[in-house]
Amino acid sequence: MAASPIFRSSFLSPQLLHQHSSATAKPPSTTNFIPIKATTTSDPATPPPSRAPQSSNHLKNRRSADENIRDEARRHNAAHNFSAKYVPFNADPTSTESYSLDEIVYRSRSGGLLDVQHDMDALKKFDGHYWRSLFDSRVGKTTWPYGSGVWSKKEWVLPEIDSDDIISAFEGNSNLFWAERFGKQFLGMNDLWVKHCGISHTGSFKDLGMTVLDFKPVKAGATFASAIQIGDPVSIDRAVFALKNSNGIVEEATEEELMDAMAQADSTGMFICPHTGVALTALFKLRQSGVIGPTDRTVVVSTAHGLKFTQSKVDYHSGEIKDMACRFANPPVQVKADFGSVMDVLKNYLMSKDSKH
Ligand SMILES: Cc1ncc(COP(=O)(O)O)c(C=O)c1O
Repeated sequence: MAASPIFRSSFLSPQLLHQHSSATAKPPSTTNFIPIKATTTSDPATPPPSRAPQSSNHLKNRRSADENIRDEARRHNAAHNFSAKYVPFNADPTSTESYSLDEIVYRSRSGGLLDVQHDMDALKKFDGHYWRSLFDSRVGKTTWPYGSGVWSKKEWVLPEIDSDDIISAFEGNSNLFWAERFGKQFLGMNDLWVKHCGISHTGSFKDLGMTVLDFKPVKAGATFASAIQIGDPVSIDRAVFALKNSNGIVEEATEEELMDAMAQADSTGMFICPHTGVALTALFKLRQSGVIGPTDRTVVVSTAHGLKFTQSKVDYHSGEIKDMACRFANPPVQVKADFGSVMDVLKNYLMSKDSKH
């Protein structure tokens, strides 16, 4: 069995998020345009910039002809007071233990997990409108390193790193896809979205973490969702903490359920990985139990690309998986490797469909 955590908080990073539509605003308008400059001051007397800077400032921050993108990044890096450090995870409030983020340290003194703690007071000097406009303004630009979906939020990720030290392929900004057909056809939902993190440079959501950090997985028993064979998850304490603090729900999926869910999603035009099949199984179950309603805005985070798991799809659709009914199989058709043969098969298929209507 594979387990899928379900959270209700939009603050954490769940595999599947849902919010009741009454409490959820429409996606933000992206018409605001502000300069890419991300500097601020720690002076407590400085009022928060409650409005985005005027668009004329944007021109002042444009890279001049004799400046390259590294110089531009250095200019943007100047003089901000955002900072972050490692602290023991869930530490006693009196704890003073902390480490710099460039230290190589994996555990706290007591052997527990570490957490990244940001200077929230410095960040809070800027209101939500400011941050949203700033982040929106960086999307789709080449300004180093903000063209990355991760580093476009540098102040919230690793504020003190020199932009010259960042290794990035401008990962992130993956498609949040309206799963219209899948939602309507299989779930009776009209506001279902799939965040396709796997439609990315490496076909994996790990692009997002790997531009910032490193990790060490431990394997468990076999599953089609092979990349989540995590026997002894190192971050279990963090997962439990997130579940409790987000009023989360844990669902489980059998191998058959996750493969069926994957085939159903694929039949509506997606091409998802077995791990996303786990999240979709959880979605089916929560829809059936009424936890998620037909009009609830719901986001499923899809974490890898289906192309990395094609053998499991071939086996499913060929009905070759032991003890699995493969109820949604769309069996492959063997065709001679020439144009005419392919066209014949397509023609016969389309004519048979036509005669049914
Ligand atoms: C939830 C989840 N989905 C998908 C993957 C697949 O990642 P990758 O394609 O990098 O193997 C992983 C790997 O850890 C995972 O944990």
